[in-house]
Amino acid sequence: MRTIETLGSLRSRTVIVRCDLNVPLSDGVITDDGRIRASLATIRELRDAGAKLVLISHLGRPKGEPDPQFSLRPVAERMSELLGAQVRFVEETVGDAAQAAVSDLSDGEVMLLENLRFNAAETSKDAAERRAFAEQLAAYADAFVSDGFGVVHRKQASVYELAQLLPSAAGRLVAAELEVLERLTVDPKRPYTVVLGGSKVSDKLGVIAHLLDRVDTLLIGGGMLFTFLRAQGHAVASSLLEEDQLDTVRGYLAEAERRGVRIVLPTDVVVAERFGDDAAHEVVAADAIESSSFGASGIGLDIGPDSAEAFAREIAGSQIVFWNGPMGVFEMEAFASGTRTVARALTETSAFTVVGGGDSAAAVRALGFSDDQFGHISTGGGASLEFLEGKSLPGLEVLA
Ligand code: 3PG
Repeated sequence: MRTIETLGSLRSRTVIVRCDLNVPLSDGVITDDGRIRASLATIRELRDAGAKLVLISHLGRPKGEPDPQFSLRPVAERMSELLGAQVRFVEETVGDAAQAAVSDLSDGEVMLLENLRFNAAETSKDAAERRAFAEQLAAYADAFVSDGFGVVHRKQASVYELAQLLPSAAGRLVAAELEVLERLTVDPKRPYTVVLGGSKVSDKLGVIAHLLDRVDTLLIGGGMLFTFLRAQGHAVASSLLEEDQLDTVRGYLAEAERRGVRIVLPTDVVVAERFGDDAAHEVVAADAIESSSFGASGIGLDIGPDSAEAFAREIAGSQIVFWNGPMGVFEMEAFASGTRTVARALTETSAFTVVGGGDSAAAVRALGFSDDQFGHISTGGGASLEFLEGKSLPGLEVLA
């Protein structure tokens, strides 16, 4: 992987830096600035080297045209505060105003262009369209630094094509993330435990298939646990269920048994009358969800306390733990206990712990834990999972 050193002296040179500044926003207010903080090391280093910095990023999934709710303006403001220097914001990505602002940069100055995804070509399936857009971006700068780890699994103009058009290198965040993820893939210490949660089994199938070969224990929580319970023949009332994944999940359960990998499912769950923080709820055995007071309309929204404690014991006895996906609807206090207990266990174990994914990172911060209580909090959700799946990631391939 080419590092920043390979770009030579950057004094007075314009460097375009692809960051992943895709932070969660609520009514225009940033609710978790972790990805902005994680971008600072590279930005500071390049400023100190005297470069002129043009930062680019996406935010959310706008439909290829400007949409104010996905503007990066609040990110420029927050980054200015964190950096202690003004980050100039330009309301377009390509065009005369952007070009003029780039030409006006002084050494060490930083500007942020508007959301890349306001241009349909950024995410186009057509390589020629992506390339044409990347050429417009490349025209701003003398060199490219790729530091948006969260987006390296996307073959998009600013991630893939742009790296081919300029002298390019991986930024410090990308390098740091890779170093950690390699500890999980190259001869990892044992026992190696992976905790998977989140709502969709279908998002996690690739990683589960790959991990069956590599880990000792898989702990399953979150909305996806109900598809596992159903695959074992248990009724799950009105809980989230992906019927079309049942056969695949049955296959994984059989494969895990054959390989001696333990897939640990919750033995109790918190079932609610409906989806809502103030909904009536109770703890029931995982194999008797329909026996709750809410019968067939009950919805499982968190793992139960016995399961959370059992997961915590597994974590305590591990040497490496990777966690992706909340155990329940942690945004609602009534259903946050499972996620909180797992997060706490991660902070207390002597194992090397990695929290992967925007949601899990946001969950631990929202529940009051701090980044330094974990071995590593990855900025990449999909990217870290695809890395663990053993897939080749376009944004990394292009920097080799
Ligand atoms: C993420 O949030 O995982 C990254 O920013 C990538 O976003 P995307 O899934 O919309 O490409």
